Amino acid sequence: MTIDKTALVTGANRGLGRSAAVALAARGARVVVTHRGDAAGAEKTAEQVRAAGGTAAVLRLDISDVSSFAPFTAELGGQLERWGASRLDILVNNAGVGVFGPLETVTTDDFDTVMGTNVRGTFFLIQSLAPLLAQGGHIINVSTSLTRHTSPATSVYSASKAAVEALGRTLAAELGPRGIRVNSIAPGPTATDFNGGAMRDDAGMRRVLAGQTALGRVGQPEEIGDAIAALAAEGLHWATAQRVEVSGGALL
Ligand SMILES: NC(=O)c1ccc[n+]([C@@H]2O[C@H](COP(=O)([O-])OP(=O)(O)OC[C@H]3O[C@@H](n4cnc5c(N)ncnc54)[C@H](OP(=O)(O)O)[C@@H]3O)[C@@H](O)[C@H]2O)c1
Repeated sequence: MTIDKTALVTGANRGLGRSAAVALAARGARVVVTHRGDAAGAEKTAEQVRAAGGTAAVLRLDISDVSSFAPFTAELGGQLERWGASRLDILVNNAGVGVFGPLETVTTDDFDTVMGTNVRGTFFLIQSLAPLLAQGGHIINVSTSLTRHTSPATSVYSASKAAVEALGRTLAAELGPRGIRVNSIAPGPTATDFNGGAMRDDAGMRRVLAGQTALGRVGQPEEIGDAIAALAAEGLHWATAQRVEVSGGALL
């Protein structure tokens, strides 16, 4: 299935953001790869996008710095014009952070970092980029399977993603008249650097998590990237305000 569209993926210098950028490019999208300081990682993603037959541009964006969004939006507009495409078709809000620990260990700084990045950053980036979104555009917010099931020591993180899902449903109603869809993708435990790389490198944790899934293993980043690209594809153009979980059937 071809996606002849422009896309932007936040936090695309590694992990799920990289896999989403490459999967979208493999289906024909021109992809803006953003990073908050890891230019080398973003360039590596851009190389993989080009190797997949796509077109990439790299821009810097720290989603916790809302004051940078206006100049970033202008910069993005310039990039789209250089591509001969005045509008952004697909926005993937992937960048996010987690703080994991039981109730008594969470600090106010932890709380503010998680909420400031995952909720405040995502919301105001959507607000800033909304005028650039094409009629028929699509916003995909990366959530987590933890908004459906519980796991101790994840309270603030899962609450931040539940907020992202709630924002998405309301914004789907607000942006629907412009034909813009808003959906969430909810990965289960996936082998990336996330949470100190535990889901990839900690064999004991991987075994426990694998035992909690119907399909018997943790996910691979490419499987989440493919799911994001599938959600962005035309075949699902009638789906909006939805949460699609991609977890191998975690804690059913
Ligand atoms: N892996 C999983 O098991 C899993 C499961 C469910 C949901 N998720 C979600 O999937 C998304 C991607 O996670 P991942 O697994 O790829 O983790 P990761 O390897 O830790 O990557 C996180 C990405 O977010 C970026 N980021 C963090 N704060 C940012 C900020 N203020 N501005 C811009 N970028 C920022 C990071 O940039 P730096 O490289 O500069 O730090 C990095 O690119 C996150 O939203 C996460 O919550 C992950």
